[in-house]
Amino acid sequence: MTGRLAGRRIVITGAGSGIGRAAAQVFAREGAKLALLDRDEAAARATAAETGGVVVQVDVSDAADVEEALKRAVDDMGGMDGLLNSAGILSSKSFGAIEPEHWRKVIDVNLTGTFLVCQAALPYLREAPNAAIVNIASGQALLPSLTGSAYAASKAGVMMFTKCLAMELAPGIRANAICPGATATPMTDHEIPPEDTVRRQKLADAYAMKRLCVPEDIANGILYLMSNEASAVTGIALAVDNGRTYH
Ligand SMILES: NC(=O)c1ccc[n+]([C@@H]2O[C@H](COP(=O)([O-])OP(=O)(O)OC[C@H]3O[C@@H](n4cnc5c(N)ncnc54)[C@H](O)[C@@H]3O)[C@@H](O)[C@H]2O)c1
Repeated sequence: MTGRLAGRRIVITGAGSGIGRAAAQVFAREGAKLALLDRDEAAARATAAETGGVVVQVDVSDAADVEEALKRAVDDMGGMDGLLNSAGILSSKSFGAIEPEHWRKVIDVNLTGTFLVCQAALPYLREAPNAAIVNIASGQALLPSLTGSAYAASKAGVMMFTKCLAMELAPGIRANAICPGATATPMTDHEIPPEDTVRRQKLADAYAMKRLCVPEDIANGILYLMSNEASAVTGIALAVDNGRTYH
């Protein structure tokens, strides 16, 4: 541990899997106290077994649930210095096949969920010196993709929402978005199983580095944005994507 987050109290949504779980591991290693929020309580408990921290079951798209979850998290940690919004769902339906209910679900979880958690966290973050929000957008917020209309729209929304937050909440609270490229997590595994090496490599070939990110790649970017090393950084969308969105 190098203590880059020593004493910081951080809420993570989507802490039970993938990027949220990797961030929890990195944050714990750097001395943070954690609240691990997820709709999948058992998954969040498994993360807590590795990192410590309080587990709170929540559906981020439900305003009352979010309000209550944030209260429980803050009561347990004695305050809140940071928020990572990692809860999210993938959509890869082609535009013509998207039913309105599917569209609403993707926007509800990815975009409205991020909004609800940020808003519920605001009074607590206002109490903290050097507070920081990191929202996970996507490389798909920066580049269009085939069959990405619902997901990419939700993530572009997260990115611009975060930039607006950065303006409105400065100077007390920093807010940044991170835009991961394809990352080897259960979300990606569900879409293209690891044993389907041909499709995995085809996906990787779209990136300059010809590989997928691992969750720790994204967690390290999040760590930077969450830490005081980024005290002059707010309102950015940081691509951690093996080199795709720059060209
Ligand atoms: N994996 C990738 O390639 C990739 C790329 C770019 C962006 N992202 C984004 O990164 C974030 C994390 O993705 P991941 O790959 O770790 O996915 P993941 O599926 O491994 O983990 C997502 C977590 O969010 C939780 N979650 C989903 N809906 C929820 C809800 N309504 N309320 C509370 N929790 C909920 C799930 O239970 C799960 O634990 C997501 O926002 C995703 O869109 C992922």
